[in-house]
Amino acid sequence: MRLFSVFILGLLLTGCLTEKPSVTNDPTQAPPRTELSQDSKIFLGNRLFSEKTCITCHAIDSKHKAPSVVEIMQVYKAHDADIVAFLKGHAKPIVDTTTSQVAIMQDNIDGFLKKITDEELDAIATYMMHVDELSKKQ
Ligand code: HEC
Repeated sequence: MRLFSVFILGLLLTGCLTEKPSVTNDPTQAPPRTELSQDSKIFLGNRLFSEKTCITCHAIDSKHKAPSVVEIMQVYKAHDADIVAFLKGHAKPIVDTTTSQVAIMQDNIDGFLKKITDEELDAIATYMMHVDELSKKQ
């Protein structure tokens, strides 16, 4: 009888041991945050550029209500300027400095752009920086 209980105890113990790995696979434990790859940022930025309505004023390479992305990037690359800083209201406009045009974009910076996270702004900026390469590939 005693031998039998030792046997049962042994079974229970090995049962506990074999269950251990499932503890480390606990779905409530969030995986470590990893930095997005450049391709993922471009992909996400492309989507956000439409979703966040930027595209309604900024076409990719033709001027509508606002300078095109290609035009903006020519100026930003030439000045080695920071798009995210501008979008956060930390840098002055350098593309179209006409007062009325600046006011339109400034309204966005003071308004809906405040709700866009730093990660999203970074993705949008990365997308804008690579927009010329994307159009060449097509
Ligand atoms: C309602 C129209 C409108 C929308 C929506 C809009 N923009 Fe603009 N944007 C403008 C106008 C007009 C200008 C030109 C004035 C200027 O350069 O600041 C401009 C300028 C810019 C510039 C150049 C700023 C500079 O240095 O002169 C960037 C970068 C920019 N927009 C990014 C964005 C992004 C990203 C979004 C979406 C999150 C967006 N815009 C949404 C109208 C818009």
